[in-house]
Amino acid sequence: MPELASRAHMQNIVPVVDVAIKQAGIDLKNLDAIAFTQSPGLIGSLLVGSQFAKSLALSLNKPLIAVHHMQAHVLANLIDDPKPDFPFLCLTVSGGHTQIVVCHSPTSLEVIGETIDDAAGEAFDKSAKLLGLPYPGGPLIDAYAKNGDPQRFKFPEPQIANLDFSFSGLKTSILYFLQNAGKSNLFKEEFTATPLEKQEFITQNLSDICASIQGRIVSILINKLKKATVQTGIRDVCLAGGVSANSGLRKTFEETGKQMGWNTFIPAFAYCTDNAAMIAITGYYKYMEKQFADLSVSASARASWAVTDKS
Ligand code: KG4
Ligand code: ZN
Repeated sequence: MPELASRAHMQNIVPVVDVAIKQAGIDLKNLDAIAFTQSPGLIGSLLVGSQFAKSLALSLNKPLIAVHHMQAHVLANLIDDPKPDFPFLCLTVSGGHTQIVVCHSPTSLEVIGETIDDAAGEAFDKSAKLLGLPYPGGPLIDAYAKNGDPQRFKFPEPQIANLDFSFSGLKTSILYFLQNAGKSNLFKEEFTATPLEKQEFITQNLSDICASIQGRIVSILINKLKKATVQTGIRDVCLAGGVSANSGLRKTFEETGKQMGWNTFIPAFAYCTDNAAMIAITGYYKYMEKQFADLSVSASARASWAVTDKS
């Protein structure tokens, strides 16, 4: 609901900044710069944030720093100790993006793989919708999967040659699988079940279905990450984004790290899903390099931010 989201931003931005300043025990004049999310996202919400940040920077006569949301997710790994060494690899998995990024320095990042269709978070949310679960379904699939058998249903793994991801095939196979209610020809379009049979099948097998879907999404992600570490020789490996809150992904990531000899890093839970601290840490590194924005800078729903080189 983009319109409601931007109105909620309008209503909340002043009180939120007020409380943040009070809780930090500082005054607006103590700030060194104003950092804000410039891109990507819902344009209405981005406009509220960018106009507010510009006004604040102008009135306080402080530098303005435009931050890219995806860079900020990666740099959330630099908030707490221990921190990864450069260059490090980051698998960023959110509701809108799925990327493998080489982070050469806080301000030099290179996307070496990304989704060609749905993001990992969308794969979770769309699968949950097919199961009749409410949005956002990712955390619910995670919760049901805890009591389920991930080996029970074997959803196909897409064969994408490079470091890119694809999740749309998984969604289709889940759709057919549910329409067949586990009867035959698991992942083909057969439509053998009645709506009632389908619902009963879901109710009786929800934990195993969720565990199997989660297991497949996690294996798609981790197999590409393994490939990326082999290709780049980089051993410091991070997770980022809302989906890194997923318990199955966190566990498999840590286990794979041990097997592969990686140094693994996952931001604290509060820094995985969207948060302001990740915008602030990115603002800090851009401030150190004097990467300031002009007051003419504008918000953008979509904007690339890194050198894209998939060779
Ligand atoms: O990074 P984020 O908070 O917002 C975006 O920038 O998109 O990510 C939100 C996504 C949603 O798709 C949500 O379902 C997913 O993260 N998510 C999870 C879990 N917690 C959040 N997915 C799977 N398991 C979770 N525990
Ligand atoms: Zn995000």
